[in-house]
This record gives sequence, C-alpha cells and structure tokens, in this order.
Amino acid sequence: VEGSDERTQHVQEELMSSLPRAKGWITDHFYEYQDFWYDMHFLRGVIWAQQHFEARPSDILLATFPKTGLTWLKALTYSILNRERDGFEHAFAVKNPHECVPYIEFHAYEKDPVSSLGSMPSPRLLSTHLPYGSLPETVHRSGCKIVCIVRDPKDVFVSMMSFVGRLTLMNSPPVSWYEAFESFCEGVSLVGPFWDHILGYWKASLEHPKNVLVVKYEDLKRDTSEQVRRLADFLGRPFSSEEIEKGILCNIVYTCSIDNLKNMDANKCGVFHFGALSSASVEKSAYFRRGEVGDWKNHLSVEMAERLDEITKRKLDSHGLTF
Ligand code: A3P
Repeated sequence: VEGSDERTQHVQEELMSSLPRAKGWITDHFYEYQDFWYDMHFLRGVIWAQQHFEARPSDILLATFPKTGLTWLKALTYSILNRERDGFEHAFAVKNPHECVPYIEFHAYEKDPVSSLGSMPSPRLLSTHLPYGSLPETVHRSGCKIVCIVRDPKDVFVSMMSFVGRLTLMNSPPVSWYEAFESFCEGVSLVGPFWDHILGYWKASLEHPKNVLVVKYEDLKRDTSEQVRRLADFLGRPFSSEEIEKGILCNIVYTCSIDNLKNMDANKCGVFHFGALSSASVEKSAYFRRGEVGDWKNHLSVEMAERLDEITKRKLDSHGLTF
C-alpha cells in the first residue's frame, strides 16, 4: 500500500500471490480472502485496516455491501448526529456524503493514515464494505455501534453494473452483463458473496441488537421518517417531540433525498478519490442514479430475476431475511 513500509508491502504481496483467484470485472482478478472476493486495490486496504485500525467504543460504523444505499445512509446518519449544529445541511452543498464519512479501508491510501484516523474527534462516523467476520478485531472488542443497510440483490446487481462502468480503476476488458451476472450468482463479485455478506450483519443484529442495526433500503424508501427515527433511537440520539414539531426530522428526510442531493454542486461535478494516494476514483455523480425500488425490471430478464430470487430464498429465508 502506498504509505506503508516496504516490509509490510512485501508480506502483503506474498499473501496475495497465495490466494485463490478468479476473473475480475473491476480489475484483472478477484482474490478470495477470508471467504470473500476483492480486487487487489481493495484487498490492500482490507489488510491495512485489519492491521492498523483502532476502534473506539464511541465509533459509529456504517457497514454495507456495495450499492445497497450507503451514500443515503451516510447522509442520514451524518445529519442525525449533527442536527444541532447550525446549518448542518449546508455541509452537503460543499461535500459529497463520502467526504463527510470516510471509509476505514481506503484510509490505507492516505498520506498518513494512522494519524489522520486517530486525529478525528469522537464520536467518529466511519464506513466500511468489509464483511462482519473480517472487521478489524478492535471493532468487535470496542463494542462500537454498527449500522448496515441491505437491499434486494436484483437492484444491487443492476446498480453495481452501472457504477463499475464509471470507475477509473478498470484496467481489464469490460465484462458482459451475462458474464458478470453468472459471477455475481456464484458469489464472485466485489466483497461477494452478496448473501453471505448481508447474512453476517443480519445474524450479528439478532445476537447483539444494541450494537448492530440492519436497515432495509426498501423500508427506508417506503417510510423514510419512521426508519430515520429508528436509526436515531439506535444511535442514542432520539428525536424529541419538540424537534419533530419544529420540522427537524422532515428537514433531514428532505435534505438527504436523492432529488435534493443529486442536484447539489458537490455531487453534480468533481471526482471522489478512494484515498489521496489512490489510483481509484469515480465521478461523484455516479453515486446518484435512480434510487428506486424495482428498477431491475428495466434491466433483467425474467429468468435472471428468478435465479437471484431462488438464491435469496435458499440462503436467507430460514434466517427471516426477505426482500
Ligand atoms: P441505483 O443505482 O439503483 O439508482 P451506494 O450508495 O451504496 O453506492 O448505493 C447506490 C444506490 O443508492 C444507487 O441506486 C443510488 O441511486 C442510490 N442512492 C443514492 N443516494 C440516494 C438517496 N439519497 N436516496 C435514495 N437512493 C439513493
């Protein structure tokens, strides 16, 4: 990793050369590490986070599979925690939600990653795409709060295909939808298998309901206010009736809506870098596409939808997780 010493880099390269590989659709290869698949750029960040990240009990970690609604969750959580600050909503006029809430693994690509995370004041609001079982050990020991957003995999796959095409990291020939779909179903996608990833957080939320909360994208769309209240309660920052009367909750829901955010200059133009020293980046506008439930109907065949539904049923139904 840029920013880490040569010995660490050597150890990481040795490790990567020993891992199972599959054809990539972001970079040339995916690597299987602790039962999940990563491109090399991401994997370096994962290993860095596992070695260096020091969690604090007061941390709030937003942990998700990619394209399940993390950008929205970041905006909402940031707003809930900063609602007493004057003009918190103007933060989004100058910053993309990903600039307000950093990823721990992409800190590996900052100039001085340990001190830049260490100097953040508590409570830190952070995010990650790491699976539950691969979170840095200190996260589990700290007892910090974790919020995960999950979403119907049919919409996740469609969202991912659009996003991947806009990443600058692509240095492999573009994969066809058919090829990517097969690979997604087999679990070989960034931080896949999708089902195992969300199941890790779902089970943790049942075992440790005070520490882990799972929100469904579909529920958040259906009744945003209700889910935002649930989120605020979980974070220990419930809305008072006075705040509700003053319209503070309504304001948060409006400020964080896709129609409002996607029209902000901070999201219409510019590029988000996955770390200052990273070669990976994406246009900020790529984070805001349609933001609908069921857009898969415009992109997947009936057979494709049935195949994903069948896997979801087989893997998640018995755990009480449905879409
Ligand atoms: P679509 O591609 O289906 O439109 P992530 O934030 O995890 O990368 O997920 C991106 C998905 O969330 C995209 O879905 C994007 O449009 C949607 N999204 C982004 N901001 C949103 C918001 N404020 N409200 C609802 N959906 C949002």
